[in-house]
Amino acid sequence: MSLIETDITQLRLNPMTLIGKDWWLVTAGQAGNFNTMTASWGHLGAIWSRPGQGSMPTAVIYVRPQRYTKEFLDREPLFSLSVLGEEQRAALNYLGSHSGRDGDKVKAAGLTAVAAEGTVYFAEAKLVLICRKLYHAPLVEAGFIDRDIIARNYPERDYHEQYVGEIVRVLRRAEE
Ligand SMILES: Cc1cc2nc3c(=O)[nH]c(=O)nc-3n(C[C@H](O)[C@H](O)[C@H](O)COP(=O)(O)O)c2cc1C
Repeated sequence: MSLIETDITQLRLNPMTLIGKDWWLVTAGQAGNFNTMTASWGHLGAIWSRPGQGSMPTAVIYVRPQRYTKEFLDREPLFSLSVLGEEQRAALNYLGSHSGRDGDKVKAAGLTAVAAEGTVYFAEAKLVLICRKLYHAPLVEAGFIDRDIIARNYPERDYHEQYVGEIVRVLRRAEE
């Protein structure tokens, strides 16, 4: 299934369902040395100005410190977000419940890695966002106004780390 380069202004999507229900694969690294994980938390939007171009289209992801994928995210300037169709739900569940530390989980999930310039995405994706890291910082306990979130989500105090990436390329499945 071929993916075509698309201008981000042409995308029609609902970020709440795309991230929260469809989920995406967060991937970083180079061909032959990358890792990926399923994520259902994140944001899409616009922030920070560029000369003459207005604010940057951005994706935000939230990654717990213990994820193997984080090691790749931290050393690479780019990461990709691959949105798969419902037919790949089993692969998404697998990649979200196994660590790349323990074996070749991409092979086990039956997905096909594609090398892009500086990152990797998946041929089975219906939408791919390639992002350039702009900002990275951990969520801090003092920042939570609704303190119930801490009890519900962070009994181990393993706060997610936030990565904001500029969306520099958009690829989508040709028939979508
Ligand atoms: C539906 C779903 C959503 C997930 N969302 C996130 C997320 O947003 N952030 C995160 O750190 N982990 C999330 N995870 C957990 C990771 O995908 C999971 O721990 C994975 O095995 C990490 O793999 P790794 O150690 O190879 O990086 C999610 C898992 C599932 C199944």
